[in-house]
Amino acid sequence: MLNIAVFGSGSGSNYQAIAEAIADGRLKARIACVISDVKDAFILERARKMGHPAVYLDCAPFKTKLDGESEKRAIRIIEEHGGNLIALAGFMRIVKAGILTAFAGRIVNIHPSLLPAFPGLEAARQAIDAGVRETGCTVHFVDGGIDTGPIICQRRVPVLPGDTVETLMNRIHEQEHIAYPEALRKIAENLDK
Ligand code: GRF
Repeated sequence: MLNIAVFGSGSGSNYQAIAEAIADGRLKARIACVISDVKDAFILERARKMGHPAVYLDCAPFKTKLDGESEKRAIRIIEEHGGNLIALAGFMRIVKAGILTAFAGRIVNIHPSLLPAFPGLEAARQAIDAGVRETGCTVHFVDGGIDTGPIICQRRVPVLPGDTVETLMNRIHEQEHIAYPEALRKIAENLDK
């Protein structure tokens, strides 16, 4: 059975969508634990409310990656909770070789664009600046690159005249909350085969 360790740095609305899909039977999986590199991130509060183990992981001295001692600690925490898949959900750090090796092929991420378009930061801003009529969101397996790796599922979102980053991101978020549980369901079904 899929036992998901969710990593996030912010609000955790995608985590919430996954947890709700599990709670109402749309997704056959468990949440092993929720890990955040930000002590007061709302994702940890959501996890506590949902009754899932909520763990703050101090990632110092690094600012943009999960590496060294904290990476080892992360692996230990996931293993202690029986996690067999990592779902990155707004985790603002790059995962490095230690985790990529320990969970090879079992790390997924969600990104607010139709990859390979607009990888990296501020994907909605990139879409508006590029003048595209359509963007969306992508759930993909994580490899060593930034927002690269095999795509599991995508959902499209129109870019409307007058859209700001905020209005566009709100529309993308709605689709993300459908896409992430859907992608995890696909993975869970493959596990059962
Ligand atoms: C999402 O837009 C996701 O695509 C990106 O970070 C955001 C996380 O939002 N990687 P939330 O914390 O799940 O609300």
